[in-house]
Amino acid sequence: MNLKGLILSGGKGTRLRPLTHTRAKQLIPIGGKPNLFYVIEDLVKAGIQDIGVVISPETGDEVREALGSGERWGVSLTFIPQDTPAGLAHAVKTAQPFLGESPFVMYLGDNLLSGGINHMLETFKRGCDAVLLLTEVEDPRAFGVAVVDASGRVTRLLEKPKDPPSNLALVGVYLFTAKIHQVIATLEPSGRGEYEITEAIQGLVDRGLSVEALKVRGWWKDTGRPEDLLDANRLTLSQVRRQIAGELVQAEVVGEVVVEKGATIVRSTVRGPAYIGPNAQIEDSFIGPYTAVGKGAKVVGSEVEYSILMDESEVLGLPYRLDSSVLGEKAVVDGKGNTRRHTLQLILGDRSRVKL
Ligand code: G1P
Repeated sequence: MNLKGLILSGGKGTRLRPLTHTRAKQLIPIGGKPNLFYVIEDLVKAGIQDIGVVISPETGDEVREALGSGERWGVSLTFIPQDTPAGLAHAVKTAQPFLGESPFVMYLGDNLLSGGINHMLETFKRGCDAVLLLTEVEDPRAFGVAVVDASGRVTRLLEKPKDPPSNLALVGVYLFTAKIHQVIATLEPSGRGEYEITEAIQGLVDRGLSVEALKVRGWWKDTGRPEDLLDANRLTLSQVRRQIAGELVQAEVVGEVVVEKGATIVRSTVRGPAYIGPNAQIEDSFIGPYTAVGKGAKVVGSEVEYSILMDESEVLGLPYRLDSSVLGEKAVVDGKGNTRRHTLQLILGDRSRVKL
């Protein structure tokens, strides 16, 4: 089966501002690497080599630059600009010239799965028109929601319903045959003005075609909100294995910790699971579990735990422990010379959050 991959990497990421003012949400590092890298790795593990990436005018260039030609994964990447963010089904329509008549995996670029997609493929190969992934969630109103009959067949799908008929959320990974294009061609915009993939799948069901649903294996994360980023970071770091390539000087590095080449850890403790990126500098500090420190970042005389510090960010002489925090690229938190411990000086962008 000549299966293609389709990664959606558009969208404005409004719920992740200010981080997404300056970068694509799909490129935010989780456990030390961009979310999109995990998505490509899942497709590669499923034997897919021809992958389209739908990009937006706002972040398309950045996504192209971060992924390159795909050579590093041994795949071919085709970038597909989508001029307006008119919904997931619109993205598929935009990608139709690339997809042709091929069956394909559509993978939302801000989704993360621990168990990969191979089990979906096995079901798909038995001959159905769509395979979906579902998982039980506490508040289904934030997702696409499915109703499944006793035999595992999907009977109804609704996008972000106010009154959800089940607690089964649609995960952002879907397998389709080319029949989906015929349904998409008949769609009208939804109440929120988008062409919904959820409605297109309902169209397959209404035409009597087979739509199968599987449960997520392991964990799934949609990294739409800051707290999801930290949780995804925790989940991915809990899978890392100890690997020390950097330099340790009077350092105590405990448990599953990755220290990349060029990183230095001096008079400090790092307690895993944690990731210390290339050329990062940790001095006179404590790095606690579930922390990922980006390339060239600096932590000096400070304590950081359960946080994401992006590339070249700095935490210097902080009199407090930094916890559950996300610092953007080159962000600086500087507590050096702070003798009046009850004052704070802050310059924060839109939707910044400070918790003391
Ligand atoms: C999209 C889909 C929704 C799905 C979700 C999974 O929503 O529209 O059906 O449950 O992805 O991540 P979004 O997160 O783009 O609002």
